[in-house]
Amino acid sequence: APQTEKPLLTIRLCQPRGFCAGVDRAIQIVVLALKKYGAPVYVRHEIVHNRYVVEGLEAKGAVFVEELDEIPLEHRRQPVVFSAHGVPKSVPADAKARELFYLDATCPLVSKVHKQAMRHQRLGRHVVLIGHAGHPEVIGTMGQLPTGAVSLVETVEDAERYQPVDPDNLGFVTQTTLSVEDTAGVIARLRQRFPNLQAPAADSICYATTNRQDAVKETADGADLYLIVGAPNSSNSRRLVEVAERAGAARALLVQRASEIPWETVDGIRTLGLSAGASAPEIIVDEIIEAFKTRFDVKVELAVTATETEEFPVMRDLRDVELTKA
Ligand code: F3S
Repeated sequence: APQTEKPLLTIRLCQPRGFCAGVDRAIQIVVLALKKYGAPVYVRHEIVHNRYVVEGLEAKGAVFVEELDEIPLEHRRQPVVFSAHGVPKSVPADAKARELFYLDATCPLVSKVHKQAMRHQRLGRHVVLIGHAGHPEVIGTMGQLPTGAVSLVETVEDAERYQPVDPDNLGFVTQTTLSVEDTAGVIARLRQRFPNLQAPAADSICYATTNRQDAVKETADGADLYLIVGAPNSSNSRRLVEVAERAGAARALLVQRASEIPWETVDGIRTLGLSAGASAPEIIVDEIIEAFKTRFDVKVELAVTATETEEFPVMRDLRDVELTKA
């Protein structure tokens, strides 16, 4: 029988995409801690919002817990790693009280936001945090200051309604993984209402978030489908889906694995946009391209919109382990 030809498909693959320097560092910290101290290494909260990564580390001997009291007393000398999203100040304090040995994998760019929030407070300002309620990074940033010292604003509507005690003494910071566009809107509205609102000394939205959003924006127009590799609880990944939709992709979806792609609906597509959130490993991007290759005659076009050279070194205690790595 004559071979039926596969339909053509152009995949616009974003670069940069996937792992950022903060995620890479957090994963390295767990891997190196396992090498140096042996299993189990406890990790408070998902180290990064990705099941594939979490399961890979579990297989190596990492044990994920939500709170420190889940760590059995006899394992107190084993390290516990705090996730890349950052933690409230009460968490290291609690770890000290329990005499736990902890390694803080908070991304340095999240720590920078913490410092900016503390700086606002030192200068007598009430802190406005722009971010998503319930996200671990927001919980961590709010937890740098005493209860009541930070107000959370999520949307333009929140900015509209917000009633500060002292409208002339406000400083804002934001979550690192927000939509650049939406955040600009929220800040603009706050500024209109509170002209003395003080900005942080440096942008809170991080380079990785900004670069990944820019890349999707530039490649979305004309895409019949846009796939973002990422988890439903990954803030930066969900923002990429929104950016793709707004920038002209006919349809955009968040997927964790190739098996989640609704294949029955992709038949007629000719152009696919593809990127990955900061917590999504490259191996899943490969898996998705391979899955399309079984159904389409695929041409991959790399869309390079920025070059990233950021690298965050692990803490000194773990650097010697790295040197002996194979
Ligand atoms: Fe850090 Fe930004 Fe990644 S804050 S963990 S570099 S998404």
